[in-house]
Amino acid sequence: VRCPTVLGIETSCDDTGVAIVRSSTASAGGFLEGEVTSDFLASQFDLHATYGGVVPRLAARAHEANLPLGLRHAETSSGLAGGLADVDAVAVTAGPGLAICLRHGFAAAVQLAERLRVPLVKVNHLEAHVLAATLAAPEMRFPFLVLLASGGHTMLVLAKSLGLGGFTVLSTTLDDSLGEAFDKVARAVRVGDHCAADAGLNADDPSRAGAGAGADSGAGAGAGSGATVARTLTMAEAAAAGGECDLRGVVETSKGPPVGPSRDDGETVAGHLGAALERLAADGDADAVPLPVPLRGGGGKHRGRAAFSFAGLKSAVVRVCESPGVDVREREVAAAIAASFQRSAVTHVSDQLRLALAACDAGAVEGGAASLGALVVCGGVAANSSVRAAVAAAAAEFGVPVFAPPPRLCTDNAVMVAWAAARKLHSSEPAALADACWEADFS
Ligand code: KG4
Ligand code: ZN
Repeated sequence: VRCPTVLGIETSCDDTGVAIVRSSTASAGGFLEGEVTSDFLASQFDLHATYGGVVPRLAARAHEANLPLGLRHAETSSGLAGGLADVDAVAVTAGPGLAICLRHGFAAAVQLAERLRVPLVKVNHLEAHVLAATLAAPEMRFPFLVLLASGGHTMLVLAKSLGLGGFTVLSTTLDDSLGEAFDKVARAVRVGDHCAADAGLNADDPSRAGAGAGADSGAGAGAGSGATVARTLTMAEAAAAGGECDLRGVVETSKGPPVGPSRDDGETVAGHLGAALERLAADGDADAVPLPVPLRGGGGKHRGRAAFSFAGLKSAVVRVCESPGVDVREREVAAAIAASFQRSAVTHVSDQLRLALAACDAGAVEGGAASLGALVVCGGVAANSSVRAAVAAAAAEFGVPVFAPPPRLCTDNAVMVAWAAARKLHSSEPAALADACWEADFS
């Protein structure tokens, strides 16, 4: 099947996603395009809120409960004339991610692929984030430079082709990921005291979907058209919809970590507080708090290095929050710290982008930066407007077009998993379909 219809499943962290993407080459240029016909995404935001991050074991239980809801949604609202019988392949995120969460998605995918008698495609989560950009911009061509910034990763990647060896990691983080830094700073300024808790969700509010200062070239063209979209459900709503899965009970009866804000004790992974921090920062004065820009300071051994570092900046923020006379319970204070942090972090990202683009000019890419097909920004943090604006500015300087998936496709979702598989199936030899089970190699 050259233009497959793929059902994708995503459970790598704390979002349960099940989506269907139908592909075609109807457009003039013959590029593969995707149409989202069904899209279910259950967030666990409120489940983990009191823990200060995602608790893997609770996340796994929630996936177990939410997957049947997602699969039922795909079944009853597939958006396909023949229902799930029209699905050509089942795709599932195989990693990287939380192993105990991935397992549930994988088990569901194997079962469904067997039932539908279609191939199973293992998808690399990072590759899915990257390829999400091509759903909105099917004409995007290789090679392209990618800023991938999520809760688990922050890296610059040169994408040369689909498949093994197609992605080269140019630089990565020496310590925290950008998403982690956003989440930790959000906790330090008590973002929940100043913003509605669910401001952490990149809601499907159309006014937000357009956010991004010119970085949205073609965004939304493929995504969402005609789809049966299940709005991002909160855990409570998901539980109510399914009846049988009240996870609030699990929280109270499990022998998990203590309830209440927990410190960074290694038990939790990045949460979903970045969007809330962005909203708080919008009200703050970024000049109010002097903060260092990572890897710029005098003489450090990493100075000017092609790498990211956010731990030092985060520590500087925590020191400010704990210093005498600073009260982050005051909204103005918290907002100023948030704005100052965001500006330093984004300036660092700009520095690194320019370094990578200059390296392309210096020979890393034949023909220099201007011959790149695109500069792509993706991963959860790509939902951030300042990040998108910084990427757009760097790209303009080097004469490279920018592509950023719409915010809903930046944060974890199953559409990107289905779409990544569709792209891979489309570009592979028909024989490969018989055993369509492979992963990308980020090296
Ligand atoms: O890609 P993603 O959904 O999950 C991973 O694969 O890790 O990324 C989640 C990360 C979280 O750290 C979250 O706080 C951050 O992305 N994030 C944001 C924004 N939206 C999500 N960070 C800053 N600004 C945002 N608007
Ligand atoms: Zn992700």
